[in-house]
Amino acid sequence: MSAKLIKGKEIAAQIREEIKEQVLELKKLKGIVPGLVTILVGQDPASESYVRAKQKTSHELGFHSVQETLPADTGQDDLLKMVWQYNQDEKIHGILVQLPLPRHIDENKVLYAIDPDKDVDGFHPVNVGRMVIGEPAFLPCTPYGIQQMLIRSGVQTEGAEVVVVGRSNIVGKPIANILLQKAAGANATVTICHTRTKDMAAHTKRADILIVAAGKPGAITADMVKPGAVVIDVGVNEIGRTAEGKRILKGDVDFEAVKEIASAITPVPGGVGPMTITMLMLNTLQAAKRKN
Ligand code: GUN
Repeated sequence: MSAKLIKGKEIAAQIREEIKEQVLELKKLKGIVPGLVTILVGQDPASESYVRAKQKTSHELGFHSVQETLPADTGQDDLLKMVWQYNQDEKIHGILVQLPLPRHIDENKVLYAIDPDKDVDGFHPVNVGRMVIGEPAFLPCTPYGIQQMLIRSGVQTEGAEVVVVGRSNIVGKPIANILLQKAAGANATVTICHTRTKDMAAHTKRADILIVAAGKPGAITADMVKPGAVVIDVGVNEIGRTAEGKRILKGDVDFEAVKEIASAITPVPGGVGPMTITMLMLNTLQAAKRKN
């Protein structure tokens, strides 16, 4: 039997429609337009493409959007000054500094300079702390998107054995924290596996919900998955290019084999990927609503 596909692309489109309606309502009732600034330093092609996509979506949803593109040799102090300027800007509710930053800039120093109430990436320690103790917080966009995919696909997380593969600050650690909260769409029993885990398969085979953010194509094979499990593949690995130069992407899960065992699975592309930008927009909308 083939697993049901959890299509992030469709879920993301549905959430974007909801955001659009709320943007109109916020404008009508309070005269507020959600504002997002994206700051890009340097010319990394992947970062340029991500920032373009964020700007495009932000425009489509009716946000006030600003793009700042700075040269790669921008000094740390100049970048910090820009962040402080947007911290004070009433029209801007969300500030996103695209990572990675050039090596001469201390990434944490810049992220920590962002006003936590405008930290729509959810990377500031204040938001990380709020998330861990279960207070309202901006949640990092990819894990927030994963939780929404589970909820909107009717996957029961309460009491479920969740196994997360990967312990990054952007995906692994936050999704584990989000799903163990005493809250709707959470209440799971969570295990985190990583590169030093002794017997990875022993853990992954226990999972009712397996979330993989290992950054390694095909890291999860069919023999590592429990029959009937829900499998969320966060991996986006470029394994080559088409004749036309288009990127060929593969997840961290051996999709063809695992889909015969799982009850539901996310494809790559079209799974978790489209959710990330959408949740950034939702965080920005929430920031705008909170402000007034
Ligand atoms: N670079 C790759 N992913 C992200 C993200 O989610 N936020 C930011 N700011 N930079 C990134």
